[in-house]
Amino acid sequence: MNLAGRDLLKLSDLSPAELSALLAQAAELKRDPYRADLRGRVLGLLFQKASTRTRVSFTVAMAQCGGSTLDLVPAAMQISRGEPLSDTARVLSRYLDAIAIRTYDQRELELFAEYAEIPVINALTDQFHPCQVLADLLTIQENFGQLAGLTLAYCGDGNNVAHSLLLGCALSGIHIRVATPPGYEPDAAVVAEAQALAQGSQVLVVRDPYEAVAGAQVVYTDVWASMGQEDQAAARKAHFLPYQVNAELMKHADPEAIVLHCLPAHREEEITAEVLEGSQSRVWDQAENRLHVQKALLIQLLGAG
Ligand code: CP
Ligand code: NVA
Repeated sequence: MNLAGRDLLKLSDLSPAELSALLAQAAELKRDPYRADLRGRVLGLLFQKASTRTRVSFTVAMAQCGGSTLDLVPAAMQISRGEPLSDTARVLSRYLDAIAIRTYDQRELELFAEYAEIPVINALTDQFHPCQVLADLLTIQENFGQLAGLTLAYCGDGNNVAHSLLLGCALSGIHIRVATPPGYEPDAAVVAEAQALAQGSQVLVVRDPYEAVAGAQVVYTDVWASMGQEDQAAARKAHFLPYQVNAELMKHADPEAIVLHCLPAHREEEITAEVLEGSQSRVWDQAENRLHVQKALLIQLLGAG
């Protein structure tokens, strides 16, 4: 695996072998979390949207490796007064060792990466959430000892998390079935990319949540209205209610199935409290795994591995 100096803008920036090596290193770091590989290194955090897990897990990952993070609050920077992103990227590259960016449009992230001379990490855009899915894959691997050949059912909105799951599952040989209401399907270009990446595993977009979940080992959901879509929340509820992950839906999954949610969750909307807090839920392990996968990613991108 040689990821030194590279960006992670979406999961297909990694080859299947690189992804699997990264997960193996993350599992190792979970057992032995304190390493001094990143002494003196500084990761910038440029977040245009709220965050609990991503921000804190990146900060702790750097601290546990002897490095640090710098919160680049957009409102306090000259970008808020119109300084071009391309200039900001070139300047910040002269100070920082890497930068994690959470923003709206994936194209903004790509523009930043084009001008930056340091690794750029996607900390969530409207299109993708690759760091989340690295943690999801580690959680699945911990529970089943493997990835290839399993089936993951995603019920809900064809959003950033769904897009990254499509790519992550395709790269790992997991069959994926995404069930969404009409009009909320994942982007056709992302589905096509996942289908092209998949080596024999299925990539399916269906309408019926029961069809998606039938016999699946992993059942996954996310909020119905993502950050930036708050004004659509009420209208979306009616469309999405049949896609709720609840005890009835779970009866159709593999009896050993686990339930994942990237969090934050809205109980009684996309998932019932009963399922979220139930014995099949692995959401707290999943959230913890953000720390371990992102630490492995930082060590690799910064060439310290
Ligand atoms: N799952 C996730 O990315 O959480 P935050 O928005 O809290 O970072
Ligand atoms: N789809 C959600 C994920 C939050 C981690 C959002 O973008 O708000």
